[in-house]
Amino acid sequence: MSTNLTKHSFTVSREKREQICGHKGKVLWFTGLSGSGKSTLANALDEKLNSNNYNTYILDGDNVRMGLNKDLGFSSEDRKENIRRISEVAKLFADSGKVVMTAFISPYSDDRNQARKLIGDDFTEIFVNTSLEDCIERDPKGLYKKAINGEIKGFTGIDAPYEEPQNPEIEIKSMTIEESVNFIINKLKF
Ligand code: ADX
Repeated sequence: MSTNLTKHSFTVSREKREQICGHKGKVLWFTGLSGSGKSTLANALDEKLNSNNYNTYILDGDNVRMGLNKDLGFSSEDRKENIRRISEVAKLFADSGKVVMTAFISPYSDDRNQARKLIGDDFTEIFVNTSLEDCIERDPKGLYKKAINGEIKGFTGIDAPYEEPQNPEIEIKSMTIEESVNFIINKLKF
């Protein structure tokens, strides 16, 4: 725990940064099972917003776990710390005026609620509600097969929990990528 710290206020305000970006900073928090389509959807939304000159960025589970969070595994404590760090980073991105999309399983309601609390009004939860059966069928990384065979322990949906969001701002179910992107953009009134 750090002590003896004093918050420094810098001259360039968030409003000024948002003015330069041409829009407000936001955090779009994608949650869903592995293989549900979080990263694919974040990528498609990113492409669309970017082509309309939005200042965007993606924080993705697999990628962030190869760098900033490479010291973390998949125990519930490590997943909590993963989400805590990402919420802090996402908050900084929003403060800089960017629209940041986060694509993490974020399986625990408590951890997502902590992120919501930290980020406040800039937080939008997007539940990519693809069924476990469909994720197992897709198995894009071959990880479900390994988990079912017992080669990976504590895999979300197989022998580790996924707590579904009860009240997400946006839920994506049975839609194509293009329909999902338009649905999100309409909901957010971009
Ligand atoms: S989270 O639960 O902490 O939010 P995160 O989104 O960062 O997970 O990472 C999930 C990705 O890590 C999965 O898409 C998968 O590629 C990989 N992975 C490796 N082991 C596991 C596991 N035990 N459970 C879930 N995903 C795993």
